[in-house]
Amino acid sequence: MRVFVTGGAGFIGSHYVRTLLDSRHPGFEQARVTVLDKLTYAGNRANLPPDGPRLTFVEGDVCDRTLLFDLLPGHDVVVHFAAESHVDRSLVNASAFMHTNVAGTQTLLDACVAAGVQRVVHISTDEVYGSIDEGSWTEESPLLPNSPYAASKAASDLVARSYWRSHGLDLSITRCSNNYGPYQHTEKLIPLFVTNLLDGQPVGLYGDGSNVREWLHVDDHCRAVQLVLTRGRPGEVYNVGRGNERTNRQMADLLVGLCGAVPGLVRPVPDRKGHDLRYSLDDRKIRDELGFEPAVPFEQGLADVVTWYRDNPDWWRPLRDTAHRLPLQNFPSPSPDGDPTTAAV
Ligand code: NAD
Ligand code: TYD
Repeated sequence: MRVFVTGGAGFIGSHYVRTLLDSRHPGFEQARVTVLDKLTYAGNRANLPPDGPRLTFVEGDVCDRTLLFDLLPGHDVVVHFAAESHVDRSLVNASAFMHTNVAGTQTLLDACVAAGVQRVVHISTDEVYGSIDEGSWTEESPLLPNSPYAASKAASDLVARSYWRSHGLDLSITRCSNNYGPYQHTEKLIPLFVTNLLDGQPVGLYGDGSNVREWLHVDDHCRAVQLVLTRGRPGEVYNVGRGNERTNRQMADLLVGLCGAVPGLVRPVPDRKGHDLRYSLDDRKIRDELGFEPAVPFEQGLADVVTWYRDNPDWWRPLRDTAHRLPLQNFPSPSPDGDPTTAAV
């Protein structure tokens, strides 16, 4: 069995590859894995073990047609994680999102068809559905993406579907809620808050903090991906969620507690443009059809993640301290008395 994983040096892709190499997926214990990753600011070769008998790492772009047509023959299955993934960046410049997420998916799938790949899973997101005030989205809900990131993912889902329908490619799509876990880039809510709070630095809560996200541990997401890969039906979409809904304010409070930080470090900052109020998935399909059950209890998973960041500053410090801060992660004004710990939201 040869597995081709795009974006395997990023947060979720690297977790998936590590679970493959740890032989945690029945039938894939001996699988050989090829990772294709461009190593953008979000990719890190050190997220994976060195190359060995079961792992080959290739630094390259999913938009590179020649490379993909060269690499893909001989692979049985493809799991496509590679993407530009951060909403705030897509608000600053969406070009890379359209290029990688849309054209990259099309290029990859062309190569899959040409190489006769047996099975493909395209990794998507709940954000393609937009924002929902009440209730939850099923897989039949309309695609109403709001951010350029979400729009590029929705477009890639439609491209993926068309390759199933037109070319008969055996492909399924997963749409997961917000992931948390180790090795997540410090630009995202949980790692940014944890690493700043551990350092006694302020964090910025967008708007009034009432936006709701549904959180699932990355390990549960990767188990769902493997279930869809091995047992999902071609042409079908599977929501992966029913994790834990929390407002950002609730998340901030939880993280302040877990980090042993001062509540006043949480500061109001201007809201994200077009900020989606709430995401919520109805995941009955993957539960009923494939027997998926999340296994990581939220409070324990979150505590373990805080411990991981506490224990691994060498991993995140270079990322956090050299990354260009996005405008919303800068604080608009100092606290009234100049004390960073007293300007509570
Ligand atoms: P990430 O940003 O941590 O990793 C993305 C990886 O893709 C990086 O290693 C990067 O170097 C690589 N990459 C980017 N452009 C590339 C290109 N042109 N060619 C090859 N490689 C390229 O993202 P993530 O959080 O691990 O997300 C992985 C996938 O899961 C994405 O498709 C994302 O849309 C989806 N998803 C993420 C979440 C979440 O909460 N993080 C939730 C649901 C779905
Ligand atoms: P994020 O981790 O960027 O994921 P997404 O936007 O894809 O859901 O953000 C999660 C939520 O946290 C989102 O509602 C925006 C909010 N947020 C903040 O309030 N402050 C921050 O510094 C960041 C990065 C996010």
